[in-house]
Amino acid sequence: MNKEQAMAEYSVSPGGEKYPIPMKEDYAQELKRVETLVSSARKEGKEIVVVMGVGFVGAVMAAIIADTVDKKTGKPGKFVIGCQRPSSRSYWKIPMLNEGLSPVKAEDPEVDPMIRRCVLEKKTLIATYNSDCLKLADCVVVDVQCDYSKKELGNMRTGSVEMAALEATMKTIADRVPANCLTLIETTVAPGTTEFIAWPIMKKAFETRGIKTESLLAHSFERVMPGRNYVSSIRDFWRVCSGCNAEARKRVEKFLREVLNTEQFPLTVMDRPIESETTKIVENSFRATTLAFLDEWSIFAERNGVDLIKVVNAIRMRPTHNNMIFPGPGIGGYCLPKDGGLGYWAYKHILGFEDDIFKMSTIAIDINDTRGLHVAELTRDALRNMGRQTAGAKVLLCGASYRQDVGDTRYSGSEIVVRKLTEMGADIAVHDPYVEHWYELEQQDSYPAPGHSWSRFFRNQEDLVKIRVQNDLPAALQGVAAVIFAVPHKSYLNLEPKKIVEWAGAPLAVVDCFGILNDEQIQAYFKLGCEVKGLGRGHIQRIKDQMRKAKS
Ligand SMILES: NC(=O)c1ccc[n+]([C@@H]2O[C@H](COP(=O)([O-])OP(=O)(O)OC[C@H]3O[C@@H](n4cnc5c(N)ncnc54)[C@H](O)[C@@H]3O)[C@@H](O)[C@H]2O)c1
Repeated sequence: MNKEQAMAEYSVSPGGEKYPIPMKEDYAQELKRVETLVSSARKEGKEIVVVMGVGFVGAVMAAIIADTVDKKTGKPGKFVIGCQRPSSRSYWKIPMLNEGLSPVKAEDPEVDPMIRRCVLEKKTLIATYNSDCLKLADCVVVDVQCDYSKKELGNMRTGSVEMAALEATMKTIADRVPANCLTLIETTVAPGTTEFIAWPIMKKAFETRGIKTESLLAHSFERVMPGRNYVSSIRDFWRVCSGCNAEARKRVEKFLREVLNTEQFPLTVMDRPIESETTKIVENSFRATTLAFLDEWSIFAERNGVDLIKVVNAIRMRPTHNNMIFPGPGIGGYCLPKDGGLGYWAYKHILGFEDDIFKMSTIAIDINDTRGLHVAELTRDALRNMGRQTAGAKVLLCGASYRQDVGDTRYSGSEIVVRKLTEMGADIAVHDPYVEHWYELEQQDSYPAPGHSWSRFFRNQEDLVKIRVQNDLPAALQGVAAVIFAVPHKSYLNLEPKKIVEWAGAPLAVVDCFGILNDEQIQAYFKLGCEVKGLGRGHIQRIKDQMRKAKS
């Protein structure tokens, strides 16, 4: 590549800011900049921590570490370097962080000031693209992604773990870190990865480098939850950790006690990394399974006059069952749709077993991934009952994110609803008070990565790139034939049916995916000439029949 071609390469932030990608000749100077800062941090007695991958988790974890103070002196004890590959997709995060701006958009009001404070005031956080900064590290925290790629919708068994980013990162680390540096893998990985993939990579590199000691490798997974308590869900939360050897275990425990609130949220130290890795996978498979379990009862309820929402609420009165959750149109989020897959894949491809022991964890993922398709059926049926067709009908989906009152759209059930209805010819519009851009649609050719969009499982998806999320509900409703309440955002809970029909301009089909409508609202919609359907809400038909009877 000549200089002119290279000059033309940019990385564009979601906000539209263009950052030129550094060129080969920039690397040496960048390392000098980092070395100078590290050398003054060392003089102040700070430990040097490199966080690999400044994405959703890494950027905030880096800030939490940079914000910690030495419990004895009260002074900052760590100098943190966020390190990110300078790819056109991700490089923008580096200059943004160096300006004191968060590269991740979070509802938590703690994120932005914390990053600003650490970068601009405390000067304990910087970011770089030059991975030679690893040579200066006392501790490395790995927060790169490790995805599970599915080949078919509703059959996760044909998928596989994408190990490349993690393996490349481990090689980069192994080739550079000092012998006594602690490397902590926080990435959610397939059980066995730390001991049987990452440790051998480090061992080989250390041998080549003539290092006689064992590398210090540890594992401790993240339980971060997007939303208003984002920072707290990393810092003030129970952690599990382990090390590949006794020294690594001792070091990781010490490190986590320094940076996290382990006094109030005790740390669990496991014997081996495969145990802490398995903890994460079982924890998330358990959650995915209990959510998937209600899918069949949801159908049962719809066909037998039962309101599953009331059933769940009645069960939740019992303290031992009070965490039962109605699953809505799918599960979503980054972790639950994939983590069981990491375990399924590891059993065969890392641990070498040929038999098939997984039944529940796998089917749970398949059920959760496809639950949204039923919402399309309900919408079709509600429209049909009003004498309308899905093809050509204007349908408004309210709620693009995967859970209430957050703007996180990753793998949301709503995406499946939109894609299926689009395939059936509906003309879709989207409203969400928390989401500015629905990148899974707007940038479906490249997001979450080329070839990874759920668009690959449906026909006629091309025009979805034109969808813009609206935030004015009355305007969005104008002229729609159907509205789908997909997520129980606060602002959707008490909407007056009369207003909805007024804004739509005529009676419309109303589909409730999350127990958003109460019985009075359902009645009111019927009175206004609308049709109503809902996931797990078999009693709607009864309300409709009662109203018909009352009329005649
Ligand atoms: N996001 C969540 O809600 C959540 C919750 C719990 C656990 N986790 C786990 O945390 C891990 C990270 O997830 P995330 O949401 O931060 O992902 P992410 O995609 O937002 O961030 C990963 C970052 O790593 C970078 N990266 C990839 N390869 C790299 C390399 N070789 N060197 C340097 N940087 C590299 C990517 O460019 C990206 O910025 C995953 O294992 C995930 O399962 C995430």
